[in-house]
Amino acid sequence: MKTVNTVEALREQVRAWRGAGERIGFVPTMGNLHAGHLSLVEQARRGADRVVVSVFVNPMQFGPNEDYDSYPRTLDADRARLEAAGVDLLFAPPVEEVYPAPLAEMTRVEVPELSAILCGRSRPGFFAGVATVVTKLFNMVQPDLAVFGEKDYQQLIVIRRLVRDLSLPILIEGVPTLREPDGLAMSSRNAYLTPAERRVAPQLHHALERLAAALRAGDRDFPALEQLGLQQLELAGFRPDYVSIRRAADLSLPGRDDAELVVLAAAWLGRARLIDNLRIVPGTDGA
Ligand code: PAF
Repeated sequence: MKTVNTVEALREQVRAWRGAGERIGFVPTMGNLHAGHLSLVEQARRGADRVVVSVFVNPMQFGPNEDYDSYPRTLDADRARLEAAGVDLLFAPPVEEVYPAPLAEMTRVEVPELSAILCGRSRPGFFAGVATVVTKLFNMVQPDLAVFGEKDYQQLIVIRRLVRDLSLPILIEGVPTLREPDGLAMSSRNAYLTPAERRVAPQLHHALERLAAALRAGDRDFPALEQLGLQQLELAGFRPDYVSIRRAADLSLPGRDDAELVVLAAAWLGRARLIDNLRIVPGTDGA
């Protein structure tokens, strides 16, 4: 596996592969890789001849009081895991390669409305930061397909929308969330949990499972279910940000007759802000 740090070196390699008629799959990450990321790599591998992974902790998507400085940076371990997973190219640019000017002066990509709800309400600027860096990475790598985790469900929907709106010729694939044996969704931020918090953390998934079961059984009192979810999280020791039931396709507010739903939650546990979601897809057990 080759590692490159500049757009020029990245493009040179991708151009050679394209010239040979090969399809490029891309997995953008912020590093600190776990099995969930490797499942994205496997998905990319299934649909492409070459897999490019980026590791870039994107300053534009962190708020002023968020964990940009303390976000775990583990490039050597990440490189070893990607090499073992058969990745062809690791793109690990320094900040100046992605943002050649101060952040405040950089052009941004905004996905309106979708970016203002749910996580976007409590993290203003977060989705503009994600949309901007993902658009830039897409322009740098020029992949045929790109793979994202369904754990960050709102992010996936925002990216699908920007690809549609900007007519980018890239297939976006979502991969179901990988979980620890007790149900906790895998996330780099789980490392922030103390042992006591780690024991509580799976309650987030369990609260969502109870709501999903009620929805599958036909309960359509969305406000009451959301309230119940919030109460259960508080009782378990979380500081919930939101519990929300939405249409799975576009995160708009659901109606009684909508069948494809997603129940999403974000909640603080100590210094970790955890997010999770479950999809309700008629005819299946959900994702
Ligand atoms: O999901 C992530 O790790 C990041 O938000 C992404 C998509 C790599 C953009 O920085």
